Amino acid sequence: MQPDWWYKRACIYSLDVETFQDSNGDGIGDFPGLTSRLDYLAGLGITCVWLLPFYPSPNRDNGYDITDYYGVDARLGTLGDFVEFIHAAQERGIRVLIDLVVNHTSDQHPWFQAARSNPDSPYRDYYIWSKEKPADADQGMVFPGVQESTWTYDTEAQLFYFHRFYKYQPDLNISNPAVRAEIMRIMGFWLELGVSGFRVDAAPFLIEMKGTDGQQGDMYEYLGEFDDFLTWRRGDAIMLAEANVPFDKIDQYFGEGHRMTMIFNFLLNQNIFLALARQSAQPIIDCMQATPGIPKSCQWANFLRNHDELDLGRLSEKDRQFVFEQFGPKETMQIYNRGIRRRLPPMLAGDQRRLRLAYSLMWTLPGTPVLRYGEEIGMGDDLSLDQRNSVRTPMQWTDTKNAGFSDAPRDGLVRPVIDAGPYSYANEVNVADQRRDPDSLFNWMERAIRARKECPEFGRGGCAIIDTGHPAVFAHACTWNSRTVVAVHNLADKDCTITLDLSDYNARQLNDLLGDKQYRKLEHNSTTLELEGYGYRWFRLDDHPHSAPSHNQ
Ligand code: GLC
Ligand code: CA
Repeated sequence: MQPDWWYKRACIYSLDVETFQDSNGDGIGDFPGLTSRLDYLAGLGITCVWLLPFYPSPNRDNGYDITDYYGVDARLGTLGDFVEFIHAAQERGIRVLIDLVVNHTSDQHPWFQAARSNPDSPYRDYYIWSKEKPADADQGMVFPGVQESTWTYDTEAQLFYFHRFYKYQPDLNISNPAVRAEIMRIMGFWLELGVSGFRVDAAPFLIEMKGTDGQQGDMYEYLGEFDDFLTWRRGDAIMLAEANVPFDKIDQYFGEGHRMTMIFNFLLNQNIFLALARQSAQPIIDCMQATPGIPKSCQWANFLRNHDELDLGRLSEKDRQFVFEQFGPKETMQIYNRGIRRRLPPMLAGDQRRLRLAYSLMWTLPGTPVLRYGEEIGMGDDLSLDQRNSVRTPMQWTDTKNAGFSDAPRDGLVRPVIDAGPYSYANEVNVADQRRDPDSLFNWMERAIRARKECPEFGRGGCAIIDTGHPAVFAHACTWNSRTVVAVHNLADKDCTITLDLSDYNARQLNDLLGDKQYRKLEHNSTTLELEGYGYRWFRLDDHPHSAPSHNQ
């Protein structure tokens, strides 16, 4: 018998407390508000919530600049509210992952304040300093165009400090054992409060050693210390790493199954977008063929969009320019010379068929799917907002004031709600309206989540690409516990008829599970199938025909 590995069955939903639901009318989402929406998430079929940083913070980088790792930002509620939230989530069978942001702190963190003002402070060595400005200070910026340097002079310390990200985010010195002990303490604290694990922010930067004494290198083994600690404190807790690295580095992150549990599949993400742009299956096929095998207990996390830009940095220059042309042609849609700061529906010009095709891929590609708040209703973006804030507008619940997000005056919201154009909350891009419409994206998403949960093979099984003989059609089969599911996706806008080669499988019948429309039922033993433009179909292979439940559309 195999272990349960809950994260392979999970449907993860990521959200930012501050933009989800305001409960007290101050214009800022909060924990009581989020707790009141847990029934909604449970109803949608979500099994795990990933919370973006909610710790005390000057909030210059959406909470990724932390001043206290052991607390809740007062704007979002209290630690007591957090515990109530965890309890309510557990009651509904929903697990909670939180962001572990320990590559850097805020420059306002008391550790940095002590470090800069007193050379003898034990905190001085929590950070990375240099007397001279290092020669490579103008290299390796994560936010080119916004961030000028990776070393900044601190007038108080009279030294330069290292920061991989914005200058108000000094990097922690993880070669200092006291810092490492602190990181474990932080993890231990939140595990004790009931979280099921961590999304590890900026993992590749966390483990890079950047000293002033020429000491450099990658500390992959350190990731094993996290896992040791985690599994002794809470056996089923996991680490989900943000590690946008080439495939040949991946086994260092997974180790032998004793480092990171899951890694976001950034390469697959970029290749899905290339495949959508080119209307061709090839980028997905190439990417999957290049994907290394991973340890049994490990897992990929699949996503389409997240809270950052769509990072296309790992595509060739030509391919990246092509995706830009198709999905983000204007300069204001692009950012950091590598990405697109839009949500998915505007990128696809609001085409419902193409949107559903994209999400259908996300629900079926091998790994665990991660949906972002608002994706279930097709929320848009606000390009007038700074940098990545364009994709971080408040959740749209209703067609009433402030989209039901908050009772505050309109100009008192943490960020403006989208109230104009095709993605306005008044224009059916809200939960309440879509709930009433059987053809809405929201109701489709709920059906897709249900179908995905009925097919654990997509998350757990071995996966094989099936030849379709058609350049636009991607088909794959996932097998687990002797059962096989198949998904077929037409990336092009034109209808087609294909023949699936299922000779490797002992299948007497393909039973429909989900599709973009009600197709003609397949003849017994037939593998010739029709697909509309942007059509998709999920099947279960059966060697004994039975009436499988079918959810069409
Ligand atoms: C990660 C986060 C991003 C943040 C950065 C610095 O990349 O996803 O939002 O700005 O880390 O913490
Ligand atoms: Ca509030």
